[in-house]
Amino acid sequence: MPRSASWDPDRARTLIAELSPLEGPLLPILHTLQEAFGYVDAAAIPLIADALNLSQAEVFGTLSFYDDFRDAPPPRRLVKLCRAEACQALGCEDLVDGLARSQGIAPDVHGDGTAVEVHSVYCLGNCALGPSALVDDTLIGRLDADRLAVLCDPDRKVSEALP
Ligand code: FES
Repeated sequence: MPRSASWDPDRARTLIAELSPLEGPLLPILHTLQEAFGYVDAAAIPLIADALNLSQAEVFGTLSFYDDFRDAPPPRRLVKLCRAEACQALGCEDLVDGLARSQGIAPDVHGDGTAVEVHSVYCLGNCALGPSALVDDTLIGRLDADRLAVLCDPDRKVSEALP
């Protein structure tokens, strides 16, 4: 996952001002801030609320409603691990357990710019070749503990985990 720019309140104000005239500007603003910084900093909430004449609670409510918005800097690597039925049948839960035991990585925990996060997803369309994961637009099938360990090391290339 590419690193995003550091939080910059002046740049955030500029982006918010550019998008405020849109009809229904709140979601476009949140998406744009996340794209620019990799997450939506808590300091953006009062800026958005002021610009859109909303309460901070309204902005926070929308921000927290959607799982896709992050409130902390992104990890160096995000592994999307499929935990749907077909991948379960092929052992993905054993991989999750092994990851917790060997590296102390629990799924679906948003860190604060940590090295790696593993997020659960539910079907990547690669069911016959599971367990499956997606990292930086690369789909990895027939995942095993060794290849998952490679994916969870941001200093190694994703391609090293391909079967
Ligand atoms: S169930 Fe995992 S890719 Fe479909």
